[in-house]
Amino acid sequence: MTGVTLAELAVEVLTTADGREKTAISHRNAARWREARAAGAPLAIGAAPPPPRPARPARPDLLPPRDVPRRRPGSPHGRIALLHALAHIELNAVDLHWDIIARFTDVPMPPGFYDDWVKSADEESKHFNLLCDCLEAMGSHYGALPAHAGMWRAAEDTAEDLMGRLAVVPMVLEARGLDVTPGMIEIFDKAGEGAATAALRTIYAEEVGHVAYGVKWFNWLCGRDGLDPKDEFHALVRRYFRGALKPPFNEEKRAEAGLPPDFYWPLADEVEGAAGTAAFR
Ligand SMILES: [Fe+2]
Ligand SMILES: [Fe+2]
Repeated sequence: MTGVTLAELAVEVLTTADGREKTAISHRNAARWREARAAGAPLAIGAAPPPPRPARPARPDLLPPRDVPRRRPGSPHGRIALLHALAHIELNAVDLHWDIIARFTDVPMPPGFYDDWVKSADEESKHFNLLCDCLEAMGSHYGALPAHAGMWRAAEDTAEDLMGRLAVVPMVLEARGLDVTPGMIEIFDKAGEGAATAALRTIYAEEVGHVAYGVKWFNWLCGRDGLDPKDEFHALVRRYFRGALKPPFNEEKRAEAGLPPDFYWPLADEVEGAAGTAAFR
């Protein structure tokens, strides 16, 4: 495969259905990009059209959100259901990061943009496998339960708009992950589920970086075009994201990722206790 481009490597991941296989290819392709960069001979970005929707395994069944059974984490079964929902989110995140690489190759971006999303995709692949390992150790597996069908909607809504994609995916959805993950770590820690607790701590630490990459490149594009980042963020979230943002927010981790309060509070649905440990929305 001499002369392979990064866009082709991204499409290879997106068109692989099985989760373990998709993430193995994701790790391999991320290493290939990284090693070529380190050797001073970076791969070309190229252009390869990503599929409208990524390939996915026959299981899990994908159901409308209202038909996905509620997760009650007080029981072992409920904790399996929660980990299953998280594994589904991570698999979707693998595809989202490779999709942003392949989808917007017509927008000239510095190589660091691709470094950041390749690294994020590599980390999401690890997260998916950590959660699959936990599920399997608990006698289940990814695909054993139904999952949320609406996960690719944010990608479809922003398929023509790189700034919209950055606003909605890393800066809204992944930032939401920072809000809800500490509560999940507590649930698994209290239940004495050491492996799941450790997996969630790894995920929590690495997700801050994904939000930060979103903020970094959103600001970069605003600077390139002479736009005010806060006003632009508000306009794009209102255009592409259905519904309000849900407090309470993890102000500390959002700050660590470079996301200031005046970005998200004006978009908040200020209902007391509105946030839960459900998926992103
Ligand atoms: Fe993740
Ligand atoms: Fe992430």
